[in-house]
Amino acid sequence: MEYNELLEKAKQASESAYAPYSKFKVGACVLTENNKIYTGCNFENSSFGLTICAERNAIGSAIADGERKLTAVAIYSPNEKHCYPCGACRQVMTEFASENLDIITEGDDGLEITKFSEIFPKGFIL
Ligand code: THU
Repeated sequence: MEYNELLEKAKQASESAYAPYSKFKVGACVLTENNKIYTGCNFENSSFGLTICAERNAIGSAIADGERKLTAVAIYSPNEKHCYPCGACRQVMTEFASENLDIITEGDDGLEITKFSEIFPKGFIL
């Protein structure tokens, strides 16, 4: 799976976002070590703290399908260039990250690949 295809799927997923409060739509697409892909969007709640981010939604689908290792996560928001994952999602990724996990984002300069270990080193592991 090419990274631009992952990003395309993240874009499609962002269209399903339920973000009536922030109006900030996000889509994510994760690639696993078994070459499977899963998408997710953010979905908010009247009780704001219960909001689920697109990344955790996509990761949840991967886990529910038996996948355990992520090799790439593409994230897209029509509201912001280079929509990097929030801290909570970074910690969740730490649990399932392969050694070389790539984070894929898009900006005016096109697709960007960032090593997860660079943006979230030394995450908490029991
Ligand atoms: N959001 C995500 O889905 N992923 C992120 O990494 C950052 C934030 C969502 C949560 C909320 O619905 C909206 O963006 C504004 O914070």
